[in-house]
Amino acid sequence: MREGLEHPGLISLAAGFTDNPTLPVTETRTIIESLLKGKSSSSSLQYGTTYGDDPLRKLTAQRLTQMDKCSKQSKDYHPDRFLITHGSQQLLYILNEVLFDPGDIVLIEDPSYFVYLGIMQSHGVRGKGIQMEPDGLDLLSLETTLNTLKKSGELARLKALYLVSYHSNPTGVTTCAAKKEAALKILKSYEKAAGHPIYLIEDAAYRELSFIGKDTPSALSFNNASDRVIYTSTYSKPFATGIRVGYGLLPEPVLTAATRVKGNHDFGTANFLQQILSKAISGGKYKEHIQKLRKRYASKARAMTRACEKHFPEKVKWENPEGGLYLWVNLPKKIKTGLKSKLFKQALKQQVLYVPGNLCYCDDDTRPKPNHQMRLSFGSASVKDIEEGITRLGRAIKRVM
Ligand SMILES: Cc1ncc(COP(=O)(O)O)c(C=O)c1O
Repeated sequence: MREGLEHPGLISLAAGFTDNPTLPVTETRTIIESLLKGKSSSSSLQYGTTYGDDPLRKLTAQRLTQMDKCSKQSKDYHPDRFLITHGSQQLLYILNEVLFDPGDIVLIEDPSYFVYLGIMQSHGVRGKGIQMEPDGLDLLSLETTLNTLKKSGELARLKALYLVSYHSNPTGVTTCAAKKEAALKILKSYEKAAGHPIYLIEDAAYRELSFIGKDTPSALSFNNASDRVIYTSTYSKPFATGIRVGYGLLPEPVLTAATRVKGNHDFGTANFLQQILSKAISGGKYKEHIQKLRKRYASKARAMTRACEKHFPEKVKWENPEGGLYLWVNLPKKIKTGLKSKLFKQALKQQVLYVPGNLCYCDDDTRPKPNHQMRLSFGSASVKDIEEGITRLGRAIKRVM
């Protein structure tokens, strides 16, 4: 951000912001007008409840039931199990507060959402990196890590696996349903030795941003999973990042504890914002908006990968994303990408910014942090800036190579 302010011509491919021109301004204006005109208009300007707006919890429960293709009667998706939060970020923070003590261990993708790493650090929670494959979590790496923890006597400190399961930030990888189901079974098989539940925190922030609308069931949908899966997601990315409403479906006793902490934080997410979303969903605007967004991000991702093909040297590799907002780029191992690297400095000289890959790895002293990758975002930059930004980055990479 500071670099951006100091260099007005700088193109940022770093920020995880969403696409400005498609933000639902007209739709939101119409909704706000109708909210403030209606019979119950004053309720939207009043405090609400800590767990959240009832209609929004019901609508969220219905949507999730449909996405997971579960029975409408399923108790596992009951609206009372949902907690609405100020962005899913707040929920992730609250979960860390209620689940972990300093020194506890969380298993986490290598690489993962770097802001989550910050939350872990602030609570003194240790991370153990689990390797990834093109179809998600590497189950062998998961088993090996669990075994190592068991042997070293540290299993009692392990509380959860945190997984950004759809179009991950930063890699774009989606963990397939079969792997999520297998991971849950593996975690369960270590619970006796751990002496407590080991939760799967499934962060589905990018679930609805699949370019072709392809979806895989969440871990909630598996048999006997609902007491171990903590599902977090958001309306920020698929609707408006400025409205910032997130939600979670939590098992007991985590739900009660999280609601209590949420009460201490703010005794409820802004009612007005929640009611905007309720109206957007119930009136069909939300669904229409997502269709538009998917097309938009698909075309921006294509613009980015085409520009990479044109301007990056052959040895630079990436996977074409199928959703989300990010492109994960692998450079040859000897080309460092960190904040102090030649490449980062050269990129700044060329007026383009990326997220150094090493920031996305937890501090896990059982392996070195890779330092030759970068996260690029096609979320907020225009197509013109994406093309120009990649041209500049290609130039910077070639100079350093
Ligand atoms: C993986 C992931 N989870 C959660 C969040 C938090 O988003 P929000 O608080 O807007 O719901 C983000 C934001 O970038 C994210 O990338």
